[in-house]
This record gives sequence, C-alpha cells and structure tokens, in this order.
Amino acid sequence: MLWLLLCAVYIPLGQTLDNGLALTPPMGWMHWQRFRCLVDCDAYPDECINEKLFRSMADHLAADGYLEAGYEYLIIDDCWASKERDDQGRLQPNATRFPNGIKALADYVHSKGLKFGIYGDYGTKTCAGYPGSHGHLETDAKTFAEWEVDYLKLDGCYADIDELQQGYIEMGRYLNQTGRPIVYSCSWPAYQEPLGIKSNYTVLQETCNLWRNWDDIDDTWSNVTNILKWFSDNQDRIASFSGTSHWNDPDMLIIGNFGLSYEQSKAQMAIWAIMAAPLIMSVDLRTIEPKFRDILLNKEIISINQDPLGVQGRLVSTVKKIDIWTKPILPKDESGATSAAIGFLSNRVDGYPYRLNITLSDLNITAASQYTVKDIFENTTITISPSDEIIVRVKPTGVVLLIATPVSGK
Ligand SMILES: *[C@@H]1O[C@H](CO)[C@@H](O)[C@H](O)[C@H]1NC(C)=O
Ligand SMILES: *[C@@H]1O[C@H](CO)[C@@H](O)[C@H](O)[C@H]1NC(C)=O
Ligand SMILES: *[C@@H]1O[C@H](CO)[C@@H](O)[C@H](O)[C@H]1NC(C)=O
Ligand SMILES: *[C@@H]1O[C@H](CO)[C@@H](O)[C@H](O)[C@H]1NC(C)=O
Ligand SMILES: *[C@@H]1O[C@H](CO)[C@@H](O)[C@H](O)[C@H]1NC(C)=O
Ligand SMILES: *[C@@H]1O[C@H](CO)[C@@H](O)[C@H](O)[C@H]1NC(C)=O
Repeated sequence: MLWLLLCAVYIPLGQTLDNGLALTPPMGWMHWQRFRCLVDCDAYPDECINEKLFRSMADHLAADGYLEAGYEYLIIDDCWASKERDDQGRLQPNATRFPNGIKALADYVHSKGLKFGIYGDYGTKTCAGYPGSHGHLETDAKTFAEWEVDYLKLDGCYADIDELQQGYIEMGRYLNQTGRPIVYSCSWPAYQEPLGIKSNYTVLQETCNLWRNWDDIDDTWSNVTNILKWFSDNQDRIASFSGTSHWNDPDMLIIGNFGLSYEQSKAQMAIWAIMAAPLIMSVDLRTIEPKFRDILLNKEIISINQDPLGVQGRLVSTVKKIDIWTKPILPKDESGATSAAIGFLSNRVDGYPYRLNITLSDLNITAASQYTVKDIFENTTITISPSDEIIVRVKPTGVVLLIATPVSGK
C-alpha cells in the first residue's frame, strides 16, 4: 500500500515542459569530467577538445554496446567555441580544433544513430571564458537548431543570480520557437542552492528537462558522498519534482576514471540509478577497463534508472552507517503492489564486509505476501516473505543492490 500511496503523491501537479523528450532520465556521454578544458592539441593530441575526440567517442558509443544500452547523447561541454563570435554575431567553433564546423560533427554523430548535444552559458562568458549567450539568446538558439543540436546544457557562469531563472525561461522559449525538439539541461539551481537560495522547482519543471541542483562532481569518492548527502538532506523538498520529462541531476558518472575504486564505482551506478539521475558518463571510452564498462552497461541497473514510473528513490534509513535507498519500480502484481530497488551503501571504513540483518518489513515493503529478492551484482535470487530476515554483506564504501519483486498470486 505504501508504494501505491507514494506514486499517487508523485504525480506532478503543475504544468511541465512539453517537448516530448527525456521521458526517462537522459543517458549519454559528456566530455567535462574526464577531458575538462584541455585545448593544447600540440601537447595532448589525443585528449584535447577537438573534432577528432568526439568522432572517436561517437564510434565507441555506437560500437561498444553503449548506444544499445541506452546511452544515446554525445554531449560537448565547455571549450569548443572560438573566443570571438563570427561577423554576424553567431557562435562559432574554434576553427583549428573543429575544422569542419559543428554541423559536420553533428551529422557524423547522427550517422552513428546517436544524438548530439552541446554546451552554452546564459551569462556573458562560459565558465572557461568563451562567449556567453547573454544578449544573444535568440541567435544562439537558432544557431544550435541549425546545427541540428538535440541537447543543450546551458551553464550559469558570469550571470546575475537574480536574473538567472527568468533568463533560462527566455532561452527555453527561443529553443521552443526553433521548432526543433532539444533536451534542455539547466543549471540555475547549481548557482543558487550552494548559496543557500532555494530554487523554484515548479518553474524548473515547467522550463527544463533536467537541471543540475548542486556543486560539480570531481573525480573523488568524497564528491560522490557529498552529493548524496545533499540530495538526501533535501529529498523531501526536491524529489517529487523529478519525473517523466523533468529530472533532478546530481551530475556525471565518474566511473572508469582515476578516483573511484571498483566497489565505489558500483556504488555510484547503483545509487544514481535509484535516484533516477541522468546517466551521463564522462570517461575515455577508448581505454576504459572492461570491469568498469560492465558496470556502465549493466542492463538491470539501467532498467532501474529508466523505470517508466519515473520515481526518484530516497534514502529511507541509515543502519550502522549503512545508508538504505529505495525506489519503487515496475512490475506491479495484480493487486497493484510495485517492485522495489533497494541499495545498501556503506559509509563504514572498518575494512571488511559488514553484515546487516534486515527484513523487507523494516523498509515498509509489505504490500505483497511474498517477494523474490535478487542481488543484482551477485546474481542470486531468494523468495521470502516481508518478515523473513535477509543478510546483506556490504563492503566498505561499497554497495549491495537488490530488486524485490512481488510474487503474483500470493
Ligand atoms: C583555437 O584553439 C587554440 C588551442 O588549441 C588556440 O591557441 C587558439 O587561439 C584558438 N582560436 C580561437 C580563434 O579561439
Ligand atoms: C513548444 O511548446 C509547445 C507548448 O508547450 C509544445 O506543444 C511543443 O511541442 C513545443 N515544441 C518544441 C519543438 O519544443
Ligand atoms: C515559484 O514560481 C511560481 C510561478 O512563478 C509561483 O507561483 C510560486 O509561488 C513560486 N514558488 C515559490 C516557493 O516561490
Ligand atoms: C568535489 O571536490 C572538489 C575538490 O576537492 C571540490 O572543490 C568540490 O567542491 C567538490 N564537489 C562536491 C559536490 O563535493
Ligand atoms: C516505515 O513506516 C513507518 C510508519 O509510517 C515510519 O515511521 C518509518 O520511518 C518507515 N521506515 C522506512 C524505512 O521507510
Ligand atoms: C545469473 O544466474 C542465472 C540463474 O542461475 C543464470 O542463468 C545466468 O546465466 C546468470 N547470469 C550471469 C550474468 O551470471
């Protein structure tokens, strides 16, 4: 019953952005966390922000199973532009690094069956100092549409904080007027919330397909836990605003880079899936180790994230420094009881897998009289009643991810 009730509450009340996009959390690849603003192509020919890098990533997205798994957007972040607009006031790419222009790159990305995303900034400059869209919103929206952009990440550096919300609404109108469906990724809460200003999530839902709520992720485990702390501390205020076509965005997956261990990588993937977070990888797909690639491609975890109910999961309990997150998902049984994804994230540092005894009843998962419970990483399944004790062994800073599915007819 509880899950049913929650679902009813989650139905968005206000109007939401209606561009037919991001019906489930967007999935893709973006260059920022891994490649930052590397523009010195003489020193770093294989890592600098240029056409070659994105063509190569498009090849790998299409050939290595990522597109098939759902990662469809290839998104350029900051540092692609020329420092000057062209003589008609339009944004243009750096001609040395993008000799064929952005439209040709978009065509290439599209030819791989992928969608193409780009970065802009509402302010006078981008965060890295390239031209911003302030005073050029309509022109830039048209330019992006002409380039056949499918996804715009609009950042908020060098902008007046009091102007941000209205500015993003205005850009959203210009994007709509181009007639091209473009996923609109907003950033204004990431500039307000860290200052203690509570963003207006009703307006976000009406304006954007996704929005960055909080600080940028870097390549560290403490970044992951800081972000989870903020999201859980604020979940009562923000979680209900996530749903079909409009999502809270805790920032990129850093799996496969340098900062997370294997267990921590599984943990980020599992909890991001439960939070219905956009799954935007930022890793060198040419050199990623297979064990990290397997985490990113795990079909069952992706299906938790992409579940059609579109509910953002929550931290429901912390037991012995183990955070327990749950998310209602399909399938439902004939009585309407939903399944649930359950993530146990250990904040323990004792250096051995910690044993936790718990029941589904402890987590209020009681709508059916029997559940199959599958451990996603261990690939084991048991059938239990809600009052049966299960033993969960969670490795330090690691995760156990379960899916509990009601047994029909019981
Ligand atoms: C293009 O990028 C290079 C660095 O790769 C830089 O030296 C050059 O000044 C840039 N050109 C423009 C017009 O921004
Ligand atoms: C523009 O907005 C209208 C009204 O919300 C919507 O029906 C339409 O699909 C939007 N078009 C695009 C291209 O986003
Ligand atoms: C959010 O904005 C809407 C629309 O402008 C307004 O009606 C509402 O009062 C605002 N909510 C808050 C909490 O300020
Ligand atoms: C991530 O770590 C960097 C470097 O330690 C820090 O500047 C940044 O604020 C952190 N972000 C979050 C979300 O914790
Ligand atoms: C289960 O429900 C009870 C009663 O509403 C509540 O006090 C408790 O916090 C809930 N526990 C979890 C893990 O959701
Ligand atoms: C998971 O377990 C099932 C049932 O034992 C087996 O058929 C399947 O091949 C296993 N999958 C993996 C990925 O190990």
